[in-house]
Amino acid sequence: MTAGPGHVVLLGGLGGDSHSVGLALLRWALRASGYRVAYLGIQNSVAEFVANAYVANAVFVSSMDGHAAYYLQDLPRLRSAAPASAKWYIGGNLVVGDALGAERTFLALGFDRVFVKFVDIETVLTLLRTDLLDATPTPVSLNDWHPFPSTTNALLPSDERRSPQLQALERAEVLGQWPTGDAAWDLQANARFLCRQKSFASTQARVVPGRPLIQPRCGVTLPAPQLRLFQALRDAGANVLSYQVDSFTRNGDHVRAADAIRDSRRSRVATTNGFPVVNHGVPELRRIAQMLRVPLQVRHSTRDPRLLAEISLAGGVTAFEGGAICYNLPYYRDYPLSISIHRWQYVDRLVGEYLERFGILIDREFFGTLTGTLIPPSLAIATDLLEALLAAQQGVRAVSLGYAEQGCRSQDVAAIRAMRSLAHSWLRAAGFANVAISTVFHQYMAAFPTDPRRAEQLIIESAQTAVRSEATRVLTKTATEAVRIPSARENVAALKLVRAVRDQACRQPEREAAIQCERAMIEREVTQLLDGVLVCGRGNVARGVIEAFARGMLDIPFAPSIHNRGEVLTARDDDGAVRYASFGRLPFDTETRQFHQDRISERRRRQGLHARPLHELTARDVLQVPRGEFQQWPLGA
Ligand code: 5AD
Ligand code: GLU
Repeated sequence: MTAGPGHVVLLGGLGGDSHSVGLALLRWALRASGYRVAYLGIQNSVAEFVANAYVANAVFVSSMDGHAAYYLQDLPRLRSAAPASAKWYIGGNLVVGDALGAERTFLALGFDRVFVKFVDIETVLTLLRTDLLDATPTPVSLNDWHPFPSTTNALLPSDERRSPQLQALERAEVLGQWPTGDAAWDLQANARFLCRQKSFASTQARVVPGRPLIQPRCGVTLPAPQLRLFQALRDAGANVLSYQVDSFTRNGDHVRAADAIRDSRRSRVATTNGFPVVNHGVPELRRIAQMLRVPLQVRHSTRDPRLLAEISLAGGVTAFEGGAICYNLPYYRDYPLSISIHRWQYVDRLVGEYLERFGILIDREFFGTLTGTLIPPSLAIATDLLEALLAAQQGVRAVSLGYAEQGCRSQDVAAIRAMRSLAHSWLRAAGFANVAISTVFHQYMAAFPTDPRRAEQLIIESAQTAVRSEATRVLTKTATEAVRIPSARENVAALKLVRAVRDQACRQPEREAAIQCERAMIEREVTQLLDGVLVCGRGNVARGVIEAFARGMLDIPFAPSIHNRGEVLTARDDDGAVRYASFGRLPFDTETRQFHQDRISERRRRQGLHARPLHELTARDVLQVPRGEFQQWPLGA
């Protein structure tokens, strides 16, 4: 018997880190070679691998943070209790530092194949084929398999506006999640404070095309240094500012956040990767807002955003980022969309209430960046628009739509233009002509050049693209992006680079023909994606989103979630534009498919890559920028 059609590979990430691009590529390549893939997503424990090994002919464990041996301590014991015949593979970045001799450690733990450092997919596929030569495919049907049986999917959200009773009942529960919730209780008092703050939405409404607002990211552990950081960035020309929320808070772990705050007070260094908004609570936020007098936002990726939103708005923050798709599938391994939609509807209704009862307009932003890696504009825009529609249904009247630069200037400019006009037409068609629409240009969000000079060049040219796209706002990167969270000085330096480009204001001629061509394609694709969602939901957006992801009619490249089919593969064309290299089940018409296929074939021809498998093109593109293997930024004009 030959290995291939039908053998099952159990694939997942082990331990704390959240890398998913390599996993997604491997998943794709395995399927393309005829394997069935049982996908565990990221952040699994060794027990979760062992418990699911019964489905598999081979178990693929990926571990990227160098702590693999630590996570795997219990493997021999657990495996002896749950015998299964699968071959076990491990790869990634298994040890911190020099990997010399590390193979032995993992062989001793019971692995059949060990790759301590980077290995290319072809090698893995060849070895797997050899190893499974005599194996019979496991008889399990993956349609009946769910790796984490404890999660429920009971709620089925809909498009109706949430009733005041439901909102009030849930509010009591939300504000009880942590003691600081109490201080957010009185909406009228919150509104009195909020209406005296600089408004994010009105600041955006005043933007002149070609003069985007500049926004850096920043978040540290304690309020005093956070205020100093904000002041330094404001004085350097940041037009709006945001709290970057730490990952304890994002995961609802306020107990650990409290420990970290205590440690930070003792050690006087930041102990978290952002500002623990919930722990500090309303009074601290208000103090900072009063000292700063700059429009404020909260940026995060929180699993349950409800308490964070309550506290943020009560604390004088007038804009809140996140949505049911963008803060779910790219970040979590098993988070049902029905639950994330429900929670974000709560947030959007809260925002609607502030407007209807007190006349306060809060901006809601959607993070179209998704996994940040090789995201075709139409997918980013489609998810933004779906989240904007869901928000408008709950009463939101100011939205910001995010798009991350991909690196081909005409495609990036076209994306911002298309995003704005599509948002106007889709919101109007849904009966929401009165929603203010802003666009957000994220400087390149995938793996950054490690060489700081190349990073700087990227930031400058990227600012040029942001200006020319006429986005409302630009989110800046820093030259140390590849290495660490920037210091205040590094953050200020990058912001000044972007500001200089914006303020020079000498307009360059655009490649209008190329932009028009890209824009027409993007608009056509977005329309097909959204029509597909509406068909899935029989006109209902919320249900359509759930159903579309289940069927693969929406599908985010490289996402770590088991609720995302992961059948779409993307790669650059010869001009550096991002194309669909494999469509999965996206509902595109023949002409659209042909366009993308032609562009990929042209690249193969020009770059002499005829015989290479598709995933190899993608892997090259993923590694190209961090390795500095490019002539200049942008990659294409
Ligand atoms: N301060 C500044 N930037 C941050 N980022 C994440 N956390 C912080 C923080 N506390 C940046 C990352 C990346 C983006 C997603 O957010 O560097 O550019
Ligand atoms: N969406 C947030 C932002 O744009 C968080 C990004 C992240 O840390 O993953 O700032």
